[in-house]
Amino acid sequence: MDFDVKDRGLAGKGKLRIEWAAQSMPVLRSIQERFAVEKPLKGIRMAACLHVTTETAALAKTLKAGGADLRICASNPLSTQDDVAASLAIHDEIPVFAIKGEDKDTYYRHIHSALGHSPQVTMDDGADLVSTIHSDRRELLPGIIGGTEETTTGVIRLRSMAETGVLQYPIIAVNDADTKHLFDNRYGTGQSTVDGIVRATNRLLAGSNFVVSGYGWCGRGVAMRAAGMGAKVIVTEVDPLRALEAVMDGYRVMPMAEAAGIGDFFCTLTGDIHVLRKEHFQAMKDGAIISNSGHFNVEIDLEALAEMAAKRRPIRDFVEEFQLADGRRVYVLGEGRLINLAAAEGHPSSVMDMSFANQALCSEYLAKNHATLKKQVYRVPLEIDKDIARLKLASMGVDIDTLTDEQVKYLNSWEMGT
Ligand code: ADE
Repeated sequence: MDFDVKDRGLAGKGKLRIEWAAQSMPVLRSIQERFAVEKPLKGIRMAACLHVTTETAALAKTLKAGGADLRICASNPLSTQDDVAASLAIHDEIPVFAIKGEDKDTYYRHIHSALGHSPQVTMDDGADLVSTIHSDRRELLPGIIGGTEETTTGVIRLRSMAETGVLQYPIIAVNDADTKHLFDNRYGTGQSTVDGIVRATNRLLAGSNFVVSGYGWCGRGVAMRAAGMGAKVIVTEVDPLRALEAVMDGYRVMPMAEAAGIGDFFCTLTGDIHVLRKEHFQAMKDGAIISNSGHFNVEIDLEALAEMAAKRRPIRDFVEEFQLADGRRVYVLGEGRLINLAAAEGHPSSVMDMSFANQALCSEYLAKNHATLKKQVYRVPLEIDKDIARLKLASMGVDIDTLTDEQVKYLNSWEMGT
């Protein structure tokens, strides 16, 4: 079997860590048990471009249990957990092409390897499979029945492809399920981003000025958790509604030009380019720590920072010091890549349980319904979203109320008034 991982010798460690993660993924486990019996993905060739983590391993085993012929590559050069990649290849016989720290050429070579069996279904986290297929591998298009997309940035790109008539097969936007973005993007990114910053720096957040750029679901989560650790959070935004929400959530809101000179920590989560740039680096305090938790490594203008720097050196794992001409130092975490996956382990398993339950059930949905789908970006069917919420609550031992007949009648009537 063809695969490319850093070190097969890490497989034993990976197996144990995968087992640990799976213990917190009861919803995915119940899907895996059903898939093993029903085989809804029997013989379907799938390529998944995901962060290769213990949680992704649990998803991969579920898809395989469902009968899929699966290949996996990384969706970010720094997010692969090499022990997990080794275990999936050695113990589960899943072709994995992913090495932490791989260069750009290797990253794209691995994407092409994952496409090596001419997949019928693609599973993306950032749309790299879809964009590679639509630009370099168009011969694969006729065989593809559909795909799924995990993240906000990917969904934005795919919607623009659909609107301009470029998209050539249906995509289900897993990110937009309520059981995905309300939990993974908020609580997952909130915890894992703070975890990444703390693991990389071992600095105290309490009492610091922590600038969060972007107040989408991910930014909301990071602001909430940084505040929970005692940081004084400042939010920067371009959207007036989100800015207003941040104000009423209790944070200071100001332009980055102002925040740049105040922040001790900065974290970008906007999905846009050069959110931190030359004019901001010029205003930063000595020792400012900057990081990104948005999907791509474009949010910090690292080229500008490199040009401004008189000296640069790695000072500890995942921390690079840039010394400016006047002696001030700015620290960049994880090369400006997703800090939660570069320096920590990504979102905790119990939240990925819901995200990946969506991925598994949407793959099944595509297998069953692809013939009726158009070249569009679809929402996750509401029944799937609600089922996952129900299963998650049940796994947590939480019961909820049901409407009485009188209440159902009331909600469906318009006659009853004041
Ligand atoms: N994205 C964020 N956290 C993740 C994780 N733990 N596994 C896979 N993808 C992720």
